[in-house]
Formats: sequence, structure tokens, C-alpha cells
Amino acid sequence: MQMKIVLLGAPGAGKGTQAENLTCMLSIPHISTGDIFRENIRNGTKLGLEAKSYMDKGLLVPDELTVNIVKERLKKDDCKNGFLLDGFPRTISQAESLDAVLDSIGTKLDAVINLDVTDDVIVKRMAGRRICQNCGKSYHVVNHPPKVEGICDDCGSKLILRDDDKEETVLKRLREYKEKTLPLIDYYEKKGILFHFDGAKGIMETTDEIIAKLKAAGVGI
Ligand code: AP5
Ligand code: MG
Repeated sequence: MQMKIVLLGAPGAGKGTQAENLTCMLSIPHISTGDIFRENIRNGTKLGLEAKSYMDKGLLVPDELTVNIVKERLKKDDCKNGFLLDGFPRTISQAESLDAVLDSIGTKLDAVINLDVTDDVIVKRMAGRRICQNCGKSYHVVNHPPKVEGICDDCGSKLILRDDDKEETVLKRLREYKEKTLPLIDYYEKKGILFHFDGAKGIMETTDEIIAKLKAAGVGI
């Protein structure tokens, strides 16, 4: 089944967590612009250095830089049978660029999944989040702990706090989200491809609901 999906939601809504489950079940690649930026930061690239200056302040990385990364990524062979975009688009301009790229290859998005979570839940989740310093996999000390404390289940590397998960930076990211990303709800609602989910439910419960709703709507068939 080919599916071209976007995951929308505030910082900490559970996009990365759901993306991992969904891409595994649907056998499509997981494309997270945040993960791509963090990988570049780890590798000390020019892109990483530039992205970090925005990310550390809780600001969005400029559209041009972000759009070019996604354009290049979507050209790769593994995207031919679909993909899941996590954290992109995040502005109307990014959404328009994505539409134009897909249009140029004669395709379009099948579904946009929006995870709704309140601000107080988000702040609590971020405080308990730990990520793998090597592969970037995300955990939570209470809600989604690793098998061995402080160690990644997948690659055995150390789990660390994310640089932008300090409470003051989280609040800035939330402000950016409300100002620049929230208008995308209306953008995709008008296209008739938006599906809403309560992101405050359990991790697997949410994944099951997403799969059931997409199936019921005949998405990607
Ligand atoms: P990005 O990495 O995309 O961060 P974000 O959108 O702020 O979202 P997060 O990754 O923080 O949260 P998430 O929704 O993935 O939640 P998670 O599953 O980890 O972007 C980082 C920065 O990069 C941006 O601020 C910006 O500067 C830049 N950037 C990225 N894309 C950009 C773009 N397109 N344009 C411009 N700039 C861009 O879950 C959070 C925690 O909660 C985890 O600990 C998890 O285990 C736990 N959890 C998840 N689901 C549940 C649940 N259902 N119940 C209980 N706990 C849960
Ligand atoms: Mg994420």
C-alpha cells in the first residue's frame, strides 16, 4: 500500500513516537526534519551549525533551508512507495512548496494526521524525554522507558536530554508552533485530507486509532 502522510502536532505531541510505529507497520520511510537537523549537528556540518543557531532558541529554521532538505530527501528511491513526514511542513510556505514538489511528479498527499495535546501535558512530556545520542530514538522515563535505564534498546548507546527540551525553550517552541504551524490545520482541512486524534491517549492506543481511521477512510488504497 502506498501512503504519503504528514504528521502534524505541537512539540511533544508524540509525532516522533507515532511515526516510528506507523512507518514500521506501513513499511514507508520516516522523514523527520528535526532528526535530519540533529544528525547534521552531531556530524558538525555547515547545515547543522546554521540549524542549531535557530533550534537552541526554540525558533523555526528558515523555510528555504528546510524545504531544500526535504526536496532532496523525497528524490531518494525509498520514497517511491510513499513516506511519512514528521515535523514538515511547519509553515504555510513549506506546505505550498511540498504541494508543488508532489504536483511536479504527478502525486499528492493522502492524509495529514493531527495529534492534539494540551500545553501542560506537553511540558510534562518534554521534561521526561530522553533521546539516543547515536540514533536519535526517543524515550520517556515514565511513559516509554528503555529496557535498560539510560541505554537505547536499538543501538545500545547512551540516552541524553535534548538541547531544546529546557522548559523555557519548550515554551518558545510552543509559541512558534501556535503562530506559524497552527494555520496548517485550516490549510489541510480545506483540502479534505486532515484527520484529528487525541494525542493524550496511550501510545499504542493512538497508533491503533490512526491505522483504523485511515483504513476506514480508504486512504492509500
Ligand atoms: P522537531 O525535532 O520536529 O521537534 P518538535 O516538533 O518540537 O517535536 P518533538 O520532536 O519535540 O516532539 P514529538 O511530537 O516528536 O514528540 P515525541 O514523540 O518525541 O524539531 C526540532 C526543531 O528543529 C524545531 O524547533 C525547529 O527549530 C527545527 N525544525 C524541525 N523541522 C522544521 C521545519 N519543518 N521548519 C523549520 N524548522 C524546523 O514525544 C515527546 C515525549 O513524550 C517522548 O518522551 C515520548 O516518549 C512521550 N510520548 C509520546 N507519545 C506519548 C503518549 N501518547 N503518551 C505518553 N507519552 C508519550
Ligand atoms: Mg520529534
